[in-house]
Amino acid sequence: MSKVTTADFRHWKKEKRPITMLTAYDYSMARLLDEAGIDSLLVGDSVGNVMLGYANTLPVTMEEMLHHTRAVSRAVKRALVVGDMPFLSYQVSREEAVRNAGRFLKEGGAEAVKLEGGEEVAPTVAAIVRSGIPVVGHIGLTPQYVHQLGGYHVQGKQATVARRLLRDARSLAEAGVFALVLECVPAEVAQEITASLPIPTIGIGAGPHCDGQVLVTHDLLGLYGGFTPKFIKRYANLAEQIKGALLAFQEEVQNRVFPGPEHSFSMTQEEYRLFLEERE
Ligand code: KIV
Repeated sequence: MSKVTTADFRHWKKEKRPITMLTAYDYSMARLLDEAGIDSLLVGDSVGNVMLGYANTLPVTMEEMLHHTRAVSRAVKRALVVGDMPFLSYQVSREEAVRNAGRFLKEGGAEAVKLEGGEEVAPTVAAIVRSGIPVVGHIGLTPQYVHQLGGYHVQGKQATVARRLLRDARSLAEAGVFALVLECVPAEVAQEITASLPIPTIGIGAGPHCDGQVLVTHDLLGLYGGFTPKFIKRYANLAEQIKGALLAFQEEVQNRVFPGPEHSFSMTQEEYRLFLEERE
């Protein structure tokens, strides 16, 4: 089992071998994902919604991201760990962007960073890449731009917007991203972008023609309730299984079924006798 690298991403695109990426935020889940052979773990800023209960990803801080990235990195033996740069950690200045990207590698143990945005962030991407930090781009529905986009909608249904996405993709590839996330774009647009880039595209709600697919792990496992977007496939309903287990625990404790003798420790009869004697 050899460690996945950014070079593997390039080979896999050439070989047409689909790439798998899933989100991870903690040690236990990251171990399971890594042992299952998922190629890349994204410590997404979706941690804000999924783990921290924020309404969107905007409040997530560098310190929160680094805390979760460290936990994931400690678990991983094979997958490529990508840290997601939170809102305002790369937009203010290029210098700050490079410093914050570097923190994901130096302090978080990540091997790459991801950031959202098109042509406008290409110079920032180039500066981070020049510093020796591999970057994943992210265009289409970019949740950090939710207020500018006016909500979470599919991007690129109109030809003008689709053409802009293609331009964004090309300028990010020129700036040096080694992979590009395409979120919520029509399958035709993702297909065209995928065909026109030398680097792999990783789709989420972007159809079957991307070089790889990424999902939020809690969505595919049925761990995160609420609204389920069309592009999510649930492979399990763990929330129901967890609730079932918790109810069983509750009942067994209340009915004195748990803990049974098999979960309890005991003394020898002699020690017990001495114990009772001394007590008196
Ligand atoms: O933060 C995240 O989970 C993401 C993925 C949805 C690509 O950016």
